[in-house]
Amino acid sequence: MLDQRRLPGEVIYHTYTDYRDVARAIKDMEIRGAPAIGVAAAMGAAIGVQRSQAKTLAELRVEFESICDTLARTRPTAVDLFWAIERFQRRFAELAAAAEKDGGGSAGTAALLQIRAALVEEAQKVHQERRTADERIGRFGAELMPKSGRVMTQCNAGALATGGIGTALGVIRMAVEGGYRIEVLVPETRPYLQGARLTAWELHHDHIPLTLITDNMVGHFLKTGGVGAVVVGADRIAGNGDTANKIGTYGIAVLARENKVPFYVAAPISTLDLSISSGDQIPIEERSEEEVTHLQGMRISPDVRAAHPAFDVTPSRFITAIITERGVARAPFEESLLRLTGQT
Ligand code: MRU
Repeated sequence: MLDQRRLPGEVIYHTYTDYRDVARAIKDMEIRGAPAIGVAAAMGAAIGVQRSQAKTLAELRVEFESICDTLARTRPTAVDLFWAIERFQRRFAELAAAAEKDGGGSAGTAALLQIRAALVEEAQKVHQERRTADERIGRFGAELMPKSGRVMTQCNAGALATGGIGTALGVIRMAVEGGYRIEVLVPETRPYLQGARLTAWELHHDHIPLTLITDNMVGHFLKTGGVGAVVVGADRIAGNGDTANKIGTYGIAVLARENKVPFYVAAPISTLDLSISSGDQIPIEERSEEEVTHLQGMRISPDVRAAHPAFDVTPSRFITAIITERGVARAPFEESLLRLTGQT
């Protein structure tokens, strides 16, 4: 796992063999970004089962639930986390039922080994699927980008956030690869600075032209800066298209509408949460005040209270389209999102 807290200064990888370390890494934002959190949770669940000392299926079942619970109690907003855990719960139940059936009601050591191997395979599959989804999102999204000029993003919805080429940055990468002459406007994304530290690092590394701006320059540039589109990622998309993403996204969307700049959300199908009808039902993570009062460990304010909602919700009326690996959804999102998930 590449330690994203240390970027761009240091490129440090950690190898974890205990699922509790994976859970802590998610909580502490060593790894972050909705799809990457999903991949990490999948890997964490697989590692937990692989390393388990359980001797019987009953013991393994109890331990597996506790592993899932530990991973689920890390970050509340990104639905990819819960998507991955639920996928593992379904796969575990399937494997356990098959093992019990083969063993005439009980499962032996060989069956436990098989379950362990199958869950490791499942985690690798989740990672591979992220990569494929990103590329498809990138292809669909690139067509919506301006052939030249500026594109604004928010936070980091790049390779660091997915394990593939990224969602929003995947769209930009594909457009640039296709010959579009795009310069990316990167808001720094206070307080965690995913824009300044991570997106700027990723784009610079790939030689994609960028200009870093502070968050309070967003309105100015949308009004005067020749921005042809905004493209951002998502942490959870409700049934009506309302989208939770990094704090600040809502403001950008409103300013984009005011200035007639199309506003796109790029996200995999796993980020849709059709169990909720609107964005009001999305839990918003509150992170520590210190991330606001301090910058890289240094206090920048007097000792006062601070607020740190890590995400906001953009109402779908501000969203021009949602780009997924299965195609592009437009309003009315209640219908278009259902259609993409094959539920109509
Ligand atoms: O708090 P973070 O850094 O995990 O928040 C990340 C974002 O808000 C991203 O835009 C979102 O997860 C999409 S990543 C492809």
